[in-house]
Amino acid sequence: MKIAVVGLGYVGLPLSLQFARSCVSVLGLDVDDKKVRLLNDGQSYIKHISPSAIADLVTSGKFSASTEFSRIKDVEAIIICVPTPLTKNREPDISFVLETGRAIAPHLSKGALVVLESTTYPGTTDEDLREVLEKGSGMKAGTDFHLAFSPEREDPANRDSNVKSIPKVVGGYTQTCLNKTISLYSRAIDNIVPVSSCRVAEATKLLENVFRSVNIALVNELKLVYAAMGIDVWEVIEAAKTKPFGFMPFYPGPGLGGHCIPIDPFYLTWKAREYGKHTRFIELAGEINTAMPEHVVNRVSTALNHQQKALKGSKVLVIGLAYKPNVDDERESPSYVLMRLLIESGATVEFYDPYVSVIKPTREHPQFAGKKSVEWSRATVENFDVVLIATNHSALNYQELGTWARCIVDTRNAMASVKDASAKVWKA
Ligand SMILES: NC(=O)c1ccc[n+]([C@@H]2O[C@H](COP(=O)([O-])OP(=O)(O)OC[C@H]3O[C@@H](n4cnc5c(N)ncnc54)[C@H](O)[C@@H]3O)[C@@H](O)[C@H]2O)c1
Repeated sequence: MKIAVVGLGYVGLPLSLQFARSCVSVLGLDVDDKKVRLLNDGQSYIKHISPSAIADLVTSGKFSASTEFSRIKDVEAIIICVPTPLTKNREPDISFVLETGRAIAPHLSKGALVVLESTTYPGTTDEDLREVLEKGSGMKAGTDFHLAFSPEREDPANRDSNVKSIPKVVGGYTQTCLNKTISLYSRAIDNIVPVSSCRVAEATKLLENVFRSVNIALVNELKLVYAAMGIDVWEVIEAAKTKPFGFMPFYPGPGLGGHCIPIDPFYLTWKAREYGKHTRFIELAGEINTAMPEHVVNRVSTALNHQQKALKGSKVLVIGLAYKPNVDDERESPSYVLMRLLIESGATVEFYDPYVSVIKPTREHPQFAGKKSVEWSRATVENFDVVLIATNHSALNYQELGTWARCIVDTRNAMASVKDASAKVWKA
C-alpha cells in the first residue's frame, strides 16, 4: 500500500514513520523544502525523533519526502496533518487545511481516501474540506473518493507513548469511508475506535483538549486561593492523587502553552456561536490561564522587593522556553509572554533552555527571533538578580541552581526536592 502524509511536523512525521515501519510505503509532503531535504538526508528536526529511525526507513525505500503534491496521484490514501492555528482575532484559521485540499484535489485518484487529522471544529471535514476537494477534483465524496476525520493524540516527550499503541478514533463521511479508514489505520495502529461521523471524531478531540484546559485552570485558580490561606497547592495535589478513583492530577503553571490546549478550545467557541450557544467553561478557563503570566511577574516583583530591588533595572533569567518539560517545542509558550511582560516592566531578560539554543522567528513574538540561550554555569546564574523557572526540564541540575541563584521564582514546584534552597525560593 502507498499513502501520502501532508504536513511533516510534530504529528505528521511520527505518523509517517509508524506507517513506514508497518510496511506501508509513505510519501511525506510538506511545503517546507528545508524539512524535505533534511528528511531525505535521514536527519531529524524534532528532538524526540531519532535521525537513525528516519535514515533506516529512507534507505529501505519505505519513506521519502517531497514538495511535489502532484505525486499523490499514485497513492491510495492521503492523511492531512497541517497546522490549525488561531487568527490574530482568535478565530479558527483553517486556511492550511483548505490550501492542502486545493493542492491535492486535482491529483486525487478515483477511490482514494482523504483523512484529516488536524484538530478543528465539527464540520470542517464534511463541510469545508469536502467542498474544496469536490470542487478541485470534480468528484463526489463518499462516491468517487472517501473522506474521514481522525484526531491525533501525540504526547511529545512521553517515552511510554507511541503512535502504534495510542487508540485511534476514526469517523467517516459514509459507512464505506469509515470502513476504508479503519482498514488503513489498522495496518499501523493497534486499537481503532470507530465513531458514527466525522463530526463526532472532531468533537472528541475538542473534548479531550477542553478537559485539559479547564482542569489546568481549576488548579491555577486553587493555587491562588490556597496560597492566600498559606496552603501549598502542590502538596494538596500530591495528597489528592492518592485517591484511587475519581481524581486525576493536573498541575498549575505559568500559563498554557503548546500548539493545542491554548488554541483548540476556541475552535469550539467560534463554531458554537453559529448555533447560538456559549462555551462558558472554555472562556472562564481561558481567562484564568491567560492571567497566570501576570500573576507570575507580580511574584517576581515581590521576590525582588524583599531584596530591596525593583523589577525595573533587575536582571531576570527565565529557565525553560519550551512550553512543557523535556521537549524542544516552544510554540505558544508562556515563557514568551513572561519575557515580554518583564521587559515591559524595565527588567533585562535572558533565557536558558537546554533544548532551545536560539529562538526561531514567530508570528506572535517577532522581537525575540535570534535571541540565544545563555550557557549553564555558576558565573552566569550568579549574575542574575532572580531566576524564574517557567519550565521544569528534567535535565536541569536544580541542586546547582539552588546553590548558584540569588533568588528563585518557581512556577512548577521544581525546587521542591532541593535541600537547603527553600529560603530563596518563591513559589508562583
Ligand atoms: N503537536 C502536537 O502535539 C499535536 C497533538 C495533537 C494534534 N495536533 C494537531 O495536529 C495538527 C498539526 O500540528 P503539528 O504540531 O504537527 O504542527 P507542525 O507545525 O509541527 O507541523 C505542520 C507541518 O505542516 C507543514 N505545512 C504547513 N502548511 C502546509 C501545506 N499547505 N501543505 C503541506 N504542508 C504544510 C509545515 O511546514 C509543518 O511541517 C494541528 O492541527 C494540531 O492542532 C498537534
